[in-house]
Amino acid sequence: MAEKMKSGAVGEELEVARGIAEDLRARGLFGDAAPGYYIRTFGCQQNEADSEQLAGIAEAMGFVPAPGPEGAKLILVNTCAIREHAEKKALSVIGTYKHVKDADPGVIIGVGGCMAAEAHRAETLKRSYPYVDFVFEPSSAFSLPSLVRDAMGGTRRFLSAGANGIAEGLPKVREKAYSAWLSVMYGCNNFCSYCIVPYVRGRERSRRPEDVVEEAKRLVDGGAKNITLLGQNVNSYGKDGDFGCGIAELMRRICRIDGDFELRFMTSHPKDASDELIDVIAEEKKVVKHFHLPVQSGSDRILAMMNRHYDRERYLSVVEKLRARVPDVTLTSDIIVGFPGEEEKDFLDTLDLMRLARFDMIFSFIYSPRVGTPAAKMEPQIPRDVSAERMERLLALGTALSEERNSRFVGRTLRVLADGVSRTDPGMMTGRGAPARPVHFPGGEELTGKFVNVDITGSGAFWIAGELSEKE
Ligand code: SAH
Ligand code: SF4
Ligand code: F3S
Repeated sequence: MAEKMKSGAVGEELEVARGIAEDLRARGLFGDAAPGYYIRTFGCQQNEADSEQLAGIAEAMGFVPAPGPEGAKLILVNTCAIREHAEKKALSVIGTYKHVKDADPGVIIGVGGCMAAEAHRAETLKRSYPYVDFVFEPSSAFSLPSLVRDAMGGTRRFLSAGANGIAEGLPKVREKAYSAWLSVMYGCNNFCSYCIVPYVRGRERSRRPEDVVEEAKRLVDGGAKNITLLGQNVNSYGKDGDFGCGIAELMRRICRIDGDFELRFMTSHPKDASDELIDVIAEEKKVVKHFHLPVQSGSDRILAMMNRHYDRERYLSVVEKLRARVPDVTLTSDIIVGFPGEEEKDFLDTLDLMRLARFDMIFSFIYSPRVGTPAAKMEPQIPRDVSAERMERLLALGTALSEERNSRFVGRTLRVLADGVSRTDPGMMTGRGAPARPVHFPGGEELTGKFVNVDITGSGAFWIAGELSEKE
C-alpha cells in the first residue's frame, strides 16, 4: 500500500508557511499590500488540480493572486513533459522570466510539474536558468513553503528525489466554485512504451475513499455542481490499497452525497475498464453519460509495441458493452499517429476502428519520442511529413464523425451546466453536459454555474446550439 505522507511532514510545511506569513505581516506586507503570486500551468487536468494546491499553499504563505508575472513576487511554472512541444513551450516561457528577475532580483521563481521531474531537464534548469530559484517534481509540491523560505535566504534548491506519497490536508484555491477537479489517485504503473508519465509521477497511489468522499462533500457544500475525478488510470483506483473500494464503489459513494451535482471521471485504461464501472455510468443519475477511453491505435501490432495489453477486439467489445448498457453514451478517445514502425496498413486499421467505435471526439497527437522510454529507441521512427499527412486524414475522419454524432442532439432538450459567457459574443453562453462539445445558447452571466435546459436547434462538428427551454 502506498505510504501515506506522514501528516507531520505536511504539518511542518504548513508551519513554515505560517512563519513566512508572519514575517510578511511583521514587515507590513499583508492584506492589500501583500506580494503577488502568479502560476503558469501547462499539461493535463492533473496539473491544473495540482496548481490549485500550489495556489492554496502560496496564499497560506501570505501571497495574493497577481494578474501576470510582471509585478508578482512569486512565480511558479507547473510544467508538462508529455510531448516535446509541451517542454519547449514551458522552457521558452521560463526564459521570458529572466527579464522579470533582472528588473526585480527579489522575485522568486520556481519550476514544478512533470518536466521538473526529468533528471536531464532539472539539470538544464540548474545550469542554464540561473534565475530559477528552485525546482520540484509533482509529489514534492507540499514542500513549497521551505523552498520559498530558502529562496528568500538566497539558497537555490533542486528537489529530485520523489517523495511519492500522498499529501492530505493541503489548502486549495479553486478557480471556479461550481466546477471542481478531484484527484483520487496519483502516478501510473502501466509503462506504455511511449509515455513519460510513470517516470515523472511515480507508482500508483490511491487516496483513501474516506478522504475523497469527505472532499467531495465539502465541494458540494461549497457549491460544486460538477466534480471530475482524476487519475491517470482511474480503473486502478484502490488496487494499491487495502480499503476494499474500487472506482465503481467510490463513485457510488460520492453519488449518495445529497445535492444537485454531476460526476465525471477520467481517464480509463481499456485493459481494465470493468463491467462495474459501465454499470455505474448506466445506473447512477449523477454520473454524466460520457466515457473517455483512450485507444491510441487500431492496429494490434502497434498496440502490442505500445505495451497497452489489449487488442482491437477487446477494445471494441468494451465499446459494445458500453453502448448496450448506455445507448446514448458520449465516447471520446486519444489516438497517437506515427508511433515507431507504424505502416500505412496500421494507420488504416486505426481509421477503421474509429468508424466502428463512432467516437464523438478524439484527441489526436503526433508521436513524440521521450527520453528514457522504450519507444524512443524503436526503429524506424516515422518521418514528420508522413505523420503529418496521416494526421490530416485522421482529423478529417474525426471531424466527420463528430459532426454526425453531434447531430443526434438536434430536436432534444439537454440539461447543461452554464460555464460563462462567450468571449467573442457576450450575448451567448457556453454550457457543458453529456455532449463532447460545448453547447451554446443565448443567456447572461447570471446563469454561470447553474444547470439550465436547452432545446437543441443545430449542431456542427465542433458545436451544438439551442435556446433556453421553457420545459422544466
Ligand atoms: N493516462 C492516460 C493518458 C495520459 S497522457 C491514458 O492512458 O489514457 C494523454 C495522452 O497523451 C495519451 O492518451 C496519449 O494519447 C498521448 N501521449 C502520451 N505520450 C505521448 C507521446 N510520447 N507522444 C505523443 N502523444 C503521447
Ligand atoms: Fe501513460 Fe499509459 Fe500511464 Fe496513460 S496508462 S499515463 S499513456 S503510461
Ligand atoms: Fe499531465 Fe503532462 Fe504530466 S499530461 S501527467 S502534466 S506529463
